[in-house]
Amino acid sequence: MTTFDEILPLAKDIFGNPTEYIKKLEWIILNRDLNGRVRLIAPESVLSNEEGRKAIEELYQSLADRLMSHAYPLERGILYEEDKETACQGASSFLLGNFPNIWVVDRLATESRWETIAEVSPNSPRIVYFSIKGGVGRSTALAASAWTLARQGKKVLVLDLDLESPGLSSALLSPTRQPKYGITDWLVEDLVDNGDSLIDDAYATSDLPTAGSIHIVPAHGNNLGDYVAKLGRAWMPKTRHPSSPETWAKRLNRLINTLEDRLKPDVILIDSRAGIDEVAAACVTDLGAHTILMFAIQGQQTWTGYRALIDHWQQRGVITDIRSRLQIVAGLVPDDDRRLEYLELLRADAHALFEGTYDTVKPGAISDWSFEEDDDTAPHSPLPIRWNRGWYGLLSLQQRMIQVDENEVNSVYGPLLDFLDRALLGENQTW
Ligand SMILES: Nc1ncnc2c1ncn2[C@@H]1O[C@H](COP(=O)(O)OP(=O)(O)OP(=O)(O)O)[C@@H](O)[C@H]1O
Ligand SMILES: [Mg+2]
Repeated sequence: MTTFDEILPLAKDIFGNPTEYIKKLEWIILNRDLNGRVRLIAPESVLSNEEGRKAIEELYQSLADRLMSHAYPLERGILYEEDKETACQGASSFLLGNFPNIWVVDRLATESRWETIAEVSPNSPRIVYFSIKGGVGRSTALAASAWTLARQGKKVLVLDLDLESPGLSSALLSPTRQPKYGITDWLVEDLVDNGDSLIDDAYATSDLPTAGSIHIVPAHGNNLGDYVAKLGRAWMPKTRHPSSPETWAKRLNRLINTLEDRLKPDVILIDSRAGIDEVAAACVTDLGAHTILMFAIQGQQTWTGYRALIDHWQQRGVITDIRSRLQIVAGLVPDDDRRLEYLELLRADAHALFEGTYDTVKPGAISDWSFEEDDDTAPHSPLPIRWNRGWYGLLSLQQRMIQVDENEVNSVYGPLLDFLDRALLGENQTW
C-alpha cells in the first residue's frame, strides 16, 4: 500500500535516476490532482521524438508501479502541453527536491493556499492576529492594541475576519454604535456588484475616549439577518469574468484597499480565524501582512499545528518570503510562580519550531537572520501576555476598555505593545 505522504518521497526516488533525455528536458510536471492521484505533464515537443516519448512512458510506469492507488494507468497518466504555464493552469508550482527541471503542481480543494505569499502591502501596515487554537486571548489582545495605538493618537482600522465565530465588533463597539452591515454582507453583496452601495454602513467608529480613533469593520451588522445563508456564500469567487474569476481573498483585499482609501488609517489590525483554515490562510498570506502575530499557549496542539505550517512553507520554498514577518506571542501566561518555567518551555519549543528557518539563509547574509534561543529580539522569543483576573470572562470588552487605564493595560500587554511600537516605527511618517 502507498499513502499520500509517500508520493513525493517515492517520486524523488524514481526521478533520482534520470535518463540523459529526461535530464535535458526543460520541464516536467508531477501533477497531484484533487483526489491525490498523480499524472505527469511533459512538453508537447516530446511527442515528435520517439526516444523522448518512450523515456517519459517508462518513467511514468515506474512511478505508477510504486504509487499504486495514487497513480493512473499508463494510458491516462501522461499529458502533453505546449508550455509549463499552460500546464499549471494558474496553480502554483514548486521544485521537487533538488531537481532543476521537475516541478510539482498540487491541486487543492481549497481556493486559498498557504504558500502564495503576497508582498507586504505598501500602504498602512497590516498586523494579523493569528493562532492555531481558539480561546487564547487573541481578540482581547487586539482590542488592547487598538485602544493603546488610538490613545497614542493613531487612526486604527480593525477588521473582524473571524466570520465563523464573530465577536470582536461587539467587544469594541457599544450596542448603539454597531453599523448596519459587516464584512459578510459586503462579501455577499459584492457578488452581485452591490458592495459599494453598503460600504459606508459597514464600519463604525468606537466611542472609547482616545486621542486617535478606532474604526471597526465587524463580521456582521447590527442585525445578523440570515447569517448562515450569507456565510455559505461569502467565500465564493466572483465569476463575472469566467476566464479569470476573482478569488474571495482578492475580493477581500479589494474591500480593505477601498476602506484604506477612504479612512486613511495609520495601521490595520486584522483578527484572523484560528487554525489551518482557508480564511486564516487568506489573512496570513494573501493580505500583504506586515506582521503576523502567532499566538501560542504551551502544549503539543499548538506546536503540531505551527510545525505543519512552517514545514509547508519550507517545502514549498517560500519560508524566506514570510519568516521575517512572523512573531510568537504567548497568550494567557500563568500569573503565579509557574510563570518563568512556563515561558522557558514555550521559548524552547518556539525555538525548535523556528530553528530550521534560521538556517535557510546563512547568518549574516541578511542581518538578524540567525538567532540564539535566548535572543529576545528573535521571532521565536515569546511576547508574554499575562493571564489576569481583570481580563477574564468579560461580558463586555467595551465596558472594560472604558474603565481601564494605561498602567493596567501595560501590565498585561506591555511586551506586545512595545513590540508593535518597534515594528511600526518608521513604517508611517506620522509615527
Ligand atoms: N490576559 C487575559 N487574562 C485573563 N483572561 C483573558 C485574557 N485575555 C483574554 N482572556 C479571556 O479569555 C477568553 C478568550 O479570549 P479571547 O476571546 O480574546 O480569545 P480568542 O483567542 O480571540 O478566542 P476565539 O478563538 O474564541 O476568538 C475570554 O473569556 C477572555 O475574557
Ligand atoms: Mg477571537
